[in-house]
Amino acid sequence: MKVVIANISHIKYAEIICETIKESAKVRGTGIAERTPEYISKKISTGDAIIAIENDEFAGFCYIETWDNKSFVVNSGLIVHPNFRNQGLAKKIKKKILEYSQEKYPDAKIFGITTGLAVLKINYELGYQPVTFSELTTDEAFWNGCRTCKNFDVLTRTERKMCLCTGMLYDPKHKKIIKEHKYDSKVLSRLKKIKQALFLKKKK
Ligand SMILES: CC(C)(COP(=O)(O)OP(=O)(O)OC[C@H]1O[C@@H](n2cnc3c(N)ncnc32)[C@H](O)[C@@H]1OP(=O)(O)O)[C@@H](O)C(=O)NCCC(=O)NCCS
Repeated sequence: MKVVIANISHIKYAEIICETIKESAKVRGTGIAERTPEYISKKISTGDAIIAIENDEFAGFCYIETWDNKSFVVNSGLIVHPNFRNQGLAKKIKKKILEYSQEKYPDAKIFGITTGLAVLKINYELGYQPVTFSELTTDEAFWNGCRTCKNFDVLTRTERKMCLCTGMLYDPKHKKIIKEHKYDSKVLSRLKKIKQALFLKKKK
């Protein structure tokens, strides 16, 4: 398995990347925004993405976005093809893209928002800490990216203060301390359930 910085030779995978994101969003039903092949191709050609390939077959992907004049970086659109899940690939991709983001944007704060327990766990182990949305970018364009998520009405209702997603910020200075704490997935599972109960309108 190759996990590498994407380049123009990988543009041919843009369609399958989008298709895999779309199918996964349908299955999971929440918290995944859709992307177009044009957007993914652009990320690939500007060297702002990491791709995993096994024998020419698409296995996984993640890309970098910058906000607030490059003062914030997000590693977004993480996707692992169903054929390659539960083998530690997402973890490898996230580690690689975090290192690459630090190299490419050394002065930026790196953050993510997600509802996915796998991603919360990976981020936590990489040194991210849960934060309120007020710690994240105020760049309108970033939050507009949530429009295709089915929970966008929650974000609007709370005036962007909170949503089903948890915000996580990477601070390299805290990495050592965090390693000594055990990740507790039950806490985050409970938090997710509480948020769902609070924010999602019950169907009549
Ligand atoms: C989420 C996703 C990226 C995980 O990819 P993966 O390669 O299977 O993940 P990994 O094998 O690296 O697993 C990392 C950790 O998360 C855990 N994990 C994986 N899938 C999980 C799930 N659905 N729920 C809870 N934990 C999960 C693994 O057990 C592993 O923990 P461990 O280190 O204790 O073994 C993949 O399932 C996917 O592409 N899903 C659809 C898209 C998506 O949800 N993207 C994230 C948007 S924020």
